[in-house]
Amino acid sequence: MSGSRRHTCVFGLGWGDEGKGKVVDLLCPAFDLVVRFNGGANAGHTVCVGADRFALHLLPTGVLHEHVTAVIGPGVVVDPSTLVAELDALSARGVDAAPRLRISDRAHLVLAYHKIEDQLSERAAGPEGKIGTTSRGIGPCYADKMRRTTAVRFADLVGEAGLEERIRKLVGSRKSFLNAAYGGDGGLDADAVLTEIQSARRRLGSNICDTTALLHGAMAKGDRILFEGANGVLLDVDHGTYPFVTSSSTGPHGIGPGAGVPDSLVTCRVGTAKAYSTRVGSGPFVTELDNEIGERIRQRGREFGTTTGRPRRCGWFDAVACRYSATVSGATDLALMHLDTLSGFDEIGVCTAYRCDGRILHTPPAAADALARTEPVIELLPGWGEDLGGVRFFEDLPADARSYLARLESLVGVPITMIGVGPDRTQTILRGGMSAALGQPGRSRPVQVSK
Ligand code: IMP
Repeated sequence: MSGSRRHTCVFGLGWGDEGKGKVVDLLCPAFDLVVRFNGGANAGHTVCVGADRFALHLLPTGVLHEHVTAVIGPGVVVDPSTLVAELDALSARGVDAAPRLRISDRAHLVLAYHKIEDQLSERAAGPEGKIGTTSRGIGPCYADKMRRTTAVRFADLVGEAGLEERIRKLVGSRKSFLNAAYGGDGGLDADAVLTEIQSARRRLGSNICDTTALLHGAMAKGDRILFEGANGVLLDVDHGTYPFVTSSSTGPHGIGPGAGVPDSLVTCRVGTAKAYSTRVGSGPFVTELDNEIGERIRQRGREFGTTTGRPRRCGWFDAVACRYSATVSGATDLALMHLDTLSGFDEIGVCTAYRCDGRILHTPPAAADALARTEPVIELLPGWGEDLGGVRFFEDLPADARSYLARLESLVGVPITMIGVGPDRTQTILRGGMSAALGQPGRSRPVQVSK
């Protein structure tokens, strides 16, 4: 991989589920370490290798590659039981990931009371007010992190004397809070929390280290690092469709706080998006197609959540939102996935601008109610009938598919250097800088992968 692409970030430009797992998996042979820097078990990365389908939530996708050291950075909130279950599930399928996993001693633990609070607060908010979270305890855990006095970090597992006493106190005060706020504590039990912590110490203790020092040491000796974003920029706590967002920094700007590496060192920033839009959970979705076209996209694209199994809301590609997230995150490359899903439509819509309260907008409004009133300005482009699953060269795509890509590229302002035409690793077309970076200069070529 060329110098300018040495440290790379793959991240979502939408509301998550853009196919990041597959892109990371594809790039892995060129990297030594793969790092998660944000989010927690709310993420869901599906990777298909031949007939095997792996769904990962907390582990970096890189663990599927034997040469990769997988790192969970300080900015990730880790549910230890989910992590152990994921390691065990991989081990049962012959992937021994534990020896190559490093967990930051600065990372925070998601414990039972975070998940209980997540569920109870969503239930209390009701269908209109709820965020539609993944119920994985993400928001309450990040809230504890910011509150500082009520957080538990991996460093506490290996060092802190008196942890048991502190946990008992924490659980006691959390029970009082839950009872007062929601009229119940969801069966929260201090002994169960302590058992979970002891099990995490036993199973994960040897994986805990100062990952910040590890990464800087690796960079000093010339190792290449791939940063794997979770969720997507439109779910970013600062830049997303607030308040219908997650609780972390989901783009490359999250690498500084979330991994302890200056994001200025990460010069290749691959933003992933689908050839259409999807969203799970609540919140405004300007291009949503709540009709048979949306249903057709959902079925063809198998648009059901990896983490929760929820049907995803589907709509046309939103170039306004995508240009905004590409700008905020400094995307250098666009990986456009699921192009094959759009085969068979006579016409394909693209949102080129927003119309809100009689005004034309070219960036999303900040207020959720304004975004909810916003309508898409749709441009219709000719579709194509051909199945794209077997196409490996850009030049072999139907002319209308190439025109579609060219239009998206000019609207978003970022070159499309990867195109997904099916779920398997090999069903990917590389272009331009990306094919050169992966050692395939010249005409775009079929992807070579190592299992
Ligand atoms: P939380 O991250 O579980 O708090 O959920 C907040 C919002 O982000 C909800 O709308 C979730 O559905 C959404 N969300 C969080 N992570 C992902 C993801 O990886 N893919 C899709 N949606 C996500």
